[in-house]
Amino acid sequence: EKVILAYSGGLDTSVLACWLKETYDYDVIAVCCNAGQQEDFDAIEEKAIATGAVKAITLDIREEFITDYIYPTLKAGAIYENEYMLGTSMARPLMAKKLVEVAEEEGAYIIAHGCTGKGNDQVRFETTIKALNPAIKIIAPWRFWDFESREDLIEYAAAHNIPISQTTKKIYSRDENIWHISHEGGELENPWNEHFDTIHVLSVPPEKAPDEPTYIDIDFEKGIPVGLNGKKMDPINILTKLNELGSKNGVGTIDIIENRLVGMKSRGVYETPGGTILFTAHSGLEQLILDRDTTQYKAIVAQKFAQLVYDGLWFTPLREAISAFVDVTQSQVTGTVKMKLYKGCARVAAKKSPYSLYNEEFATFSKDEVYNQQDAEGFINLFSLPLKIRAIQKETVEGG
Ligand code: ARG
Ligand code: SIN
Repeated sequence: EKVILAYSGGLDTSVLACWLKETYDYDVIAVCCNAGQQEDFDAIEEKAIATGAVKAITLDIREEFITDYIYPTLKAGAIYENEYMLGTSMARPLMAKKLVEVAEEEGAYIIAHGCTGKGNDQVRFETTIKALNPAIKIIAPWRFWDFESREDLIEYAAAHNIPISQTTKKIYSRDENIWHISHEGGELENPWNEHFDTIHVLSVPPEKAPDEPTYIDIDFEKGIPVGLNGKKMDPINILTKLNELGSKNGVGTIDIIENRLVGMKSRGVYETPGGTILFTAHSGLEQLILDRDTTQYKAIVAQKFAQLVYDGLWFTPLREAISAFVDVTQSQVTGTVKMKLYKGCARVAAKKSPYSLYNEEFATFSKDEVYNQQDAEGFINLFSLPLKIRAIQKETVEGG
């Protein structure tokens, strides 16, 4: 029987490939998703075969990740618990969707993954698989096999001639793609430890950023970036360029304690250089265009959207409905934002839009054609009427 394995080339999934073959005599088809992580995918495929897989497939999911997962989240302005830009959370449903597609093509009915039983990722993979093909059986060996630690895996790997580059030294649990890299574990497990500067993979610490700021103009159309410095570019190139500039200026690192869906808190450091620039630019542009009620209502919905994404509920009616609402709000989010990047900070320096509702003449009170100051008196009388009634009532009771 065939099993589709979510394969990364790391220690866990390599042991998993071998273990699935040894324990169940399955034909393991290793599927590796290229979401933009810095890896040698040919080497990963070779390793999968050397480790016991009958077939190894690499899928380039970068563009679909950006256009169909990152952009809807960007347009929604969704950020989990005020800081986390959902880099891992957004990628999992797409990966799971790809695993289901490969399973259907290969005539396989089992998908295996290497997520632990303590994390969010197991939930995200499995909710998606169940939503897209409920007939598929899921194997998550971390929840029942006998291995308990990294050392156990290394021992198994050595005994089974699985090539491993890692040593027994405990480093971080990391997840990288074109949007971000996450770091968990190591010294981070004690929240009183400041994270080491050496943790950085995608960007420099702000102290090491240049003394001169970098400026970049981002062109948006209907809420999504379409070009830089006036030049049209494709989604991968835009994000890659913004990552490069953000990275050099130390933009987009956060260090947080977050609430996992499965009940416990965890500490994480996240580097999201280009993404942080895009979110800041996008919300700066919205300030020119969205009216007050839409802005405020959208913020409420953004929080729910972030939670749905974090919780692995991408393929749900509510997530889709919120995206439909968000798309209506984005119909005029078109314009250019000039960003200033400097020592860990990404700020909106200037912005313009043909749909801007901001009007210098109205704001400066110079003309009374649109804004007649005499209208204000009646407005305030009615606006404050409940307060006035309450004051009169209080006087009557206390005075009587
Ligand atoms: N805590 C983050 C999240 O739940 C990152 C998880 C990283 N996953 C990993 N397998 N290292 O989205
Ligand atoms: C894992 O436990 O597999 C990674 C962390 C997470 O999913 O939250």
